[in-house]
Amino acid sequence: MKNKFYVTTPIYYVNDVPHIGHTYTTVAADILARFHRLLGDKTFFLTGTDEHGAKVAEAAKEHKKDPQTYCDEVAPRFEKAWKLLNIEFDHFIRTTMPEHEKLVQDFIQRVYDKGYIYKGNYEGLYCVGCEKFLTESDLVDGKCPLHPNKLPVKQSEQNYFFKLSAFEKELIEKIGKDEIKVAPPERKNEILGKLKLGLSDISISRAEVSWGIPIPWDKKQTIYVWFDALLNYYTATKIWNKEEFWAADLHLVGKDILWFHSVIWPAMLLAVGEKPPKEIFAHGYFTINGQKMSKSLGNVISPEELVEKFGTDGARYLLFTDIPFGLDGDVSWEKFKERYNSDLANSLGNTVQRIAKLCEQNDIIIENKITPYTPFSSELGGFKNHLENLHFELALEEIKKDLKSLEGEIEQNKPWSKSKNDVTPFLKKSAQKIKNIAYALQPFMPQTSEKILKIFSGKVKTPEKPLFPRIV
Ligand code: MSP
Repeated sequence: MKNKFYVTTPIYYVNDVPHIGHTYTTVAADILARFHRLLGDKTFFLTGTDEHGAKVAEAAKEHKKDPQTYCDEVAPRFEKAWKLLNIEFDHFIRTTMPEHEKLVQDFIQRVYDKGYIYKGNYEGLYCVGCEKFLTESDLVDGKCPLHPNKLPVKQSEQNYFFKLSAFEKELIEKIGKDEIKVAPPERKNEILGKLKLGLSDISISRAEVSWGIPIPWDKKQTIYVWFDALLNYYTATKIWNKEEFWAADLHLVGKDILWFHSVIWPAMLLAVGEKPPKEIFAHGYFTINGQKMSKSLGNVISPEELVEKFGTDGARYLLFTDIPFGLDGDVSWEKFKERYNSDLANSLGNTVQRIAKLCEQNDIIIENKITPYTPFSSELGGFKNHLENLHFELALEEIKKDLKSLEGEIEQNKPWSKSKNDVTPFLKKSAQKIKNIAYALQPFMPQTSEKILKIFSGKVKTPEKPLFPRIV
């Protein structure tokens, strides 16, 4: 029987433009989706945009647009950026899709009918940046540490509450046993530690925010944007007839939104008797040259800039080669450039060029047999295992090691100094090795992989242009 693999990215707020943070999660999901497709798994990859709530309504107002027009104008920016990066998502969900809105209403009604929603009074400090109420312990100098330039506002209103506290024990048990796997392990411990301090119920409706989905039994209130947004993972399976993919196998998220995904989201599902997600993996945060990325500092790196400088595959590679996926990491244009030149221009690009040239000079013909996706289990050692565990950097390390040993063999063998007859077996073997590397690289660098496989199929011809021109 084939395995199934349902992977998601967070849905991105439309009030921001796509940046390297969004790109990171989305390319990671794409690498995994491509990897699973190659393994023959039935794969569903979902991404999209988060379009309701006070933050988006405010941004629309600033642009003198009604919120829907604003969303319709800005949501395609994400789709465009993902196309540029060669992201092969299956569906792109927008939370303003009428089908999603209707399904969210049906879902909240089910939670209400099960008795997990009640009306109460809420008083607190609300951060529009985070779209959530903050507790005293969240504040630093009375401000939200993530949005110090947006003072939290006091809000007091009659809201509907979700009985999150009712799921405390079940969540501790399920997360503890990895039935809901929270990864990497440090994050699991963090979440378990927080859960053990006790869970409070949360407000899941807003009387003051009109840009949202109305509560079906009380149209004066709208559904809290996070409750609406988290449900995208579920509603998408209904909208596009992908129910067989439920429950999600992997939600990729940034560490800042792990609580929502590993606690609130599973509780919402458990409340109505739906299966919770199997795994939530939180990646780290990028800083740029040691600084937090921010519009005001002007250091935001966009996917367009990355692709312009390093090409689609270069950009995809550079995001995953140095920083372990679960950890924070610092990036800079300088570091990207160095890495690009050493790994892609010099090592991979040069080796391909060199072997191709030698093959061409010696009229080598490489059999065009379809090689099954086996390098994972043979030459490339732990590659498959590393990818399965989301250790992208270690998987790439295996490839680098293989490339280095191939380069060493060429130096040692000196094929340029030998006769055609003597050199043919060596060159054929080398070409097969570089093809194996190309197979393995498919999820990371699909276009490059295809190019290499083409060069070494049939009569070898040296590419006119290097795969990765050096950047000075
Ligand atoms: N709309 C919510 C998610 C709802 S999912 C049901 C949201 N959107 S977001 O656009 O603000 O952020 C999306 C993702 O980008 C998060 O996973 C966040 O961690 C990630 N990043 C934002 N800045 C980042 C970095 N500087 N580095 C790495 N990822 C970061 O939250």
